[in-house]
Amino acid sequence: MYTQLEQRGMLEPPVNVATLRKMKAEGEKIACLTAYDASFALLVDAAGADLVLVGDSLGMVIQGYDTTVPVTVSDIIYHTKCVKRLLRRAFLVADMPFMSYTNPQQALENAVMLMQEGGAMMIKLEGGDGQLEIVEHLARHDIPVCAHLGLKPQSVHKIGGFRVQGRDPKLAQQMIDSSKRLQNAGADILLLECIPNELGAAVTKSLEVPVIGIGAGPSVDGQILVLYDMLDITKGKTPKFVRNFMLGHDAPIDAVRSYIAAVKDCSYPAPEHCFS
Ligand code: KIV
Repeated sequence: MYTQLEQRGMLEPPVNVATLRKMKAEGEKIACLTAYDASFALLVDAAGADLVLVGDSLGMVIQGYDTTVPVTVSDIIYHTKCVKRLLRRAFLVADMPFMSYTNPQQALENAVMLMQEGGAMMIKLEGGDGQLEIVEHLARHDIPVCAHLGLKPQSVHKIGGFRVQGRDPKLAQQMIDSSKRLQNAGADILLLECIPNELGAAVTKSLEVPVIGIGAGPSVDGQILVLYDMLDITKGKTPKFVRNFMLGHDAPIDAVRSYIAAVKDCSYPAPEHCFS
């Protein structure tokens, strides 16, 4: 049974939570991307991504909504299944959509569906101290959890737009404290979105679990981007932290390879992709 899990017909063993922790410990940057379908899952995996997220960003880049709010659990399950079929090495994380984790029992039921029906290996949920009980409940049931702090796109209507978080020193300290509490509650990974470099560095230093950043500066343990943003497919203005990796490449797989190389050698994110 274990051999099957470890080989799955490929040269390299699949990435798991222990691999990600080892990468943090050894200072190897973790290269992550979103994917929503089988063809891109195959491409991103073949290019060498360590972690693939079926993000609720699919609401914006696949379904054409202005926010991630309309995305449902069924949408995430459908896209996670598609990605899972052709993923070989990368670790597969699926997003818990808006209002799918309002209490521990509901969170557990939806997380189980994302894992059993979708094939996710970890779920991601947005939130800080308000989600501690939920993270604890999921961890107690051996559901691997990625907690998402900083800019939380599901709260866009409450925040009043997609903007940088944690610039105020008091709020920055709160984020550091919350991230420690989330780790203690059982979160296996932390994702930080749109925060100043120094805050990304402070959170990463204070945690044992890997910290993945998107617009969180170069000091985090790994980077993630929305695939369609870095391939320059997304319509309209992309955020400051996005680099168009298609520049200089004819094929998407070369752009993805170049992103992974840039994350690994720390040339991405550059100062122009960062917030102060
Ligand atoms: O939904 C998403 O794609 C995300 C990003 C942080 C990558 O959560």
